[in-house]
Amino acid sequence: MALDLEKIKKIRESLEPVPLPEHDGVCYPSFLPFREKGAEQALKDITNFQSSDTDIMICTYAKSGTHWINEITSMLIRKTAELDNKDKATTMLETISDFSVTDDLQSPRLLNTHCQFRYLPKGQIVQRGKIIHMIRNPKDICASYYYHSRKDNIFLSFFGTWNEFFDLWMSAKCAYGSWYTYEKGIEQAEKDYPCMIFTCSYEEMKKDTERELKRLADFLEIPCTESTLEDIAKATSFQNMQHHKLDSTKELDGKGFIYRKGEIGDWKNYFTVAQNERFDEQYTERFKDSTYKLTFE
Ligand code: A3P
Repeated sequence: MALDLEKIKKIRESLEPVPLPEHDGVCYPSFLPFREKGAEQALKDITNFQSSDTDIMICTYAKSGTHWINEITSMLIRKTAELDNKDKATTMLETISDFSVTDDLQSPRLLNTHCQFRYLPKGQIVQRGKIIHMIRNPKDICASYYYHSRKDNIFLSFFGTWNEFFDLWMSAKCAYGSWYTYEKGIEQAEKDYPCMIFTCSYEEMKKDTERELKRLADFLEIPCTESTLEDIAKATSFQNMQHHKLDSTKELDGKGFIYRKGEIGDWKNYFTVAQNERFDEQYTERFKDSTYKLTFE
């Protein structure tokens, strides 16, 4: 595992920021496969990834709490409340140049991606492999994404201000494109493929972690005692993960930028009144028909 971190550090050090690779009007982080092959081919390779019928896929829009739900799922699968000694980045489809590394993962393989549902591995869908989707209040995502983009400029090439990032988000020009398109894609897939996708929200997971863990364990068909669920809830608390979880972004400055605040409502520290009004107007227009009900606390 040390090799993974060392490798990630070396890759970051050897790269310069580049314009974000783009396909079909959507920009992507300039991860190695996207730099090497271009976005169109990198996405095709993800779609053609050789799935196993036991693969479990974490699907989220960026900054929705992916590291958190990934760790929770990993603990349920491994039936332990010990933090995994692996960084989520090592099993993220967009970052893997050679998919043969996934052959070495223990079954069931736990993989993750921020790509839209239409780019998911075909085999995952054909075999009805389990998909875990976490949704988060998009105002908090926007604030979290701004912070991440400023820190991760090797892959996200962003050097601007909050106001500039807000405009990028509103025009869906940030990496991975429109949050609405992403969430509507998953929502439609839930209808098209009943029982294949488990959806939970960041906010509900924070408010009643044990209840949401139980729902997830049931979806995964993993029997769990109440005390195990309690232990997993504690081990995956923000504080515990911030202090003890292995984090490749710490290789840069010792602090890292994934485990930032872990709170609901931090958007209020960023949005101006006018920005909030613009956001609400777009949200109402684009999301009024959604069955996903989010609250902006
Ligand atoms: P903030 O930037 O608002 O703090 P992702 O993993 O998709 O990149 O999402 C990162 C966001 O999830 C960050 O939000 C991070 O702090 C938060 N997060 C990570 N681990 C968490 C945990 N165990 N509990 C709650 N939030 C967590």
